[in-house]
Amino acid sequence: MEFKTLETVKQSALKEIEGISGEKSLETWRIKYLGRKSDLNKILRSLKTLPDNKKREIGFQANNLKKELEKLFAQKNQTLKTGRHRETSFDVSIPGRKISLGHLHPLTKTEQKIREIFLSMGFSIVCGPEIETEYYNFDALNIPPDHPARDLWNTFWLRQSEFKNQKPKTENQKLLLRTHTSPVQIRYMEEHHPPFQIIVPGRVFRYEATDVSHEINFYQVEGLMVGKDVSLVNFKFIVEEFFKKLFGSKIQLRFRPSYFPFVEPGLEVDIKLATSDKRQATRWLEIMGAGMVHPKVFEAVHYNPRDWQGFAFGLGLERLAMIQYNIPDIRLFYSSDLRFIKQF
Ligand code: DAH
Repeated sequence: MEFKTLETVKQSALKEIEGISGEKSLETWRIKYLGRKSDLNKILRSLKTLPDNKKREIGFQANNLKKELEKLFAQKNQTLKTGRHRETSFDVSIPGRKISLGHLHPLTKTEQKIREIFLSMGFSIVCGPEIETEYYNFDALNIPPDHPARDLWNTFWLRQSEFKNQKPKTENQKLLLRTHTSPVQIRYMEEHHPPFQIIVPGRVFRYEATDVSHEINFYQVEGLMVGKDVSLVNFKFIVEEFFKKLFGSKIQLRFRPSYFPFVEPGLEVDIKLATSDKRQATRWLEIMGAGMVHPKVFEAVHYNPRDWQGFAFGLGLERLAMIQYNIPDIRLFYSSDLRFIKQF
């Protein structure tokens, strides 16, 4: 009789589990066939009342059935779970996942803004090589070899052996990573006739220790305007317009005499931003070097210094972006740290 019951239990358990499609009914099934009050459990508990030979036989079969049902339960449970997964991934009513788009680096944004402003004032945008010769980076800019001003620019010199095809013809063809964008002034003037006005955005390199305001590579924007009677008054107007357009009208400018070998007179421009916070003291910030193009520079490009005059300037792009976005450390720009980049 016990044997029959086991077989009946098995048959109805198998049949029922097939039709189950939800976790709740599976649980009901488990209680019915494997629970404490299930027929199977009753049989197992009654084993001790049976004679020895029956006990062994039925005990064996009952335990097998128990294992079988447990396995069935586990399998069904699994299919229900993965089945639910599949259902959700085909749920057409779920809103689509947002595709995350990249965006421009803060330096790129600042550079684009600068380009726009100068384009609107009739300037052209010009580029030059990052690997320069000593001639363009120094000599032609009135910084001859052994000139103490060369110390202003700590230079990465390139090993000539790495440029076998470009054997230096003379000493000043030695290669370096340009320390500023000023050499592009020379390259441009060699090939163009004034009047013109250009800006040169570009990467420059300095062999220096890094800190919050120094990097070994950074960006500059060079400016050059040459004409028959271009004067410092024109320069003043252009930079004032530029900074007003970049930072808004609440900005003060200060012009200080300074020295750069390729300009005479040379000057430095400081800016002071107005803040809405009265407690926060504003400081003068050094922002660009500039001056009237030195006659020696015009001579180097075969312009007659008596016919032409012009102004030049050079500004640090990172410096501007740091002011614009309130960034405390120049090294953050190149850190590739997404927590930083994603803020812009
Ligand atoms: N080239 C200079 C530097 O890197 C910056 C500079 C100063 C550029 C004066 C100019 C200029 O064109 O007139 O420090």
